[in-house]
Amino acid sequence: MTIRETINWAKEELKDVCERPQYEAELLLAYALKKDRTYLIMYDNTEADIEEYRKYIQRRKEYEPYEYIVGEASFYDVELCVEQGVLIPRPETEILVDLVANIIEKEKITSIAEIGVGSGAISIMLAKKFPSLKIVATDICDTPLKVAKLNIDKYNLNRQIELKKSNLIDEVSRSIELVVSNPPYIADDFVLESNVIEYEPKEALFGGRIGDELLKQIILDVKKRGIKWLACEMGYDQREPILTFVNEVGVQSIEFYKDLAKLDRGFIIQFNGEIDEKKL
Ligand SMILES: C[S@@+](CC[C@H](N)C(=O)[O-])C[C@H]1O[C@@H](n2cnc3c(N)ncnc32)[C@H](O)[C@@H]1O
Repeated sequence: MTIRETINWAKEELKDVCERPQYEAELLLAYALKKDRTYLIMYDNTEADIEEYRKYIQRRKEYEPYEYIVGEASFYDVELCVEQGVLIPRPETEILVDLVANIIEKEKITSIAEIGVGSGAISIMLAKKFPSLKIVATDICDTPLKVAKLNIDKYNLNRQIELKKSNLIDEVSRSIELVVSNPPYIADDFVLESNVIEYEPKEALFGGRIGDELLKQIILDVKKRGIKWLACEMGYDQREPILTFVNEVGVQSIEFYKDLAKLDRGFIIQFNGEIDEKKL
């Protein structure tokens, strides 16, 4: 088959699987042929060896995310390695990075922690933006720590980002001014799309029976440690329970932010920064 015929065949195969079948068919063919998309347009009458490509299309037909097939995901202006066992970074998390970057700049913060590093997306962007910033990034699972290491090496950020296997910030002993996290926050019984539930790691998605359990634990831990700032992503329906919770716990201020679809997507908490001796 020629390149044009191959793309038409794949587009048909993918029409019920993804929103942009032509686009994904082209991207996957470019990946299989180790060329860019312009090549496909320029040489659309050329015969192509598509044995590998058929396998990729079959995987995509079974709802495997494009990013796992090609082993890469875009975040901001960087390409990050990903594989099954690591969450594919989402565009909405770029909002969290921007908000944290504003605080770091305004408050002249030099030392932060990230809970749940995943592919390393958040820590890598912040380290790139602030070359003097030191980050301890934790994860409870081995695959994210392995993949984050690859990405940190790729962007030469070893000097700035230290990885630690840890539940939340339990193993972080150094002094920290701000904690950022995009933790798992989905309720255990929430029904997710096939490409997410069948391929992405449960540890990255589900936050407990209600969903906000880990978020609440993070709030408590950060307050207890006397850390001044906490920035987290959350679910669109978690504003009320989080607000009620922080009113009980006591914080200096909380501000919620929305994503581009105008849905509640996260919060920034400022604590008074005093170490809390009482049991929360
Ligand atoms: C939603 S993913 C976020 C990944 C990445 N930060 C991003 O935004 O793309 C959540 C991450 O938290 C990790 N995680 C889950 N429970 C944890 C815990 N108790 N302590 C530390 N990390 C945890 C998961 O393994 C997963 O990598």
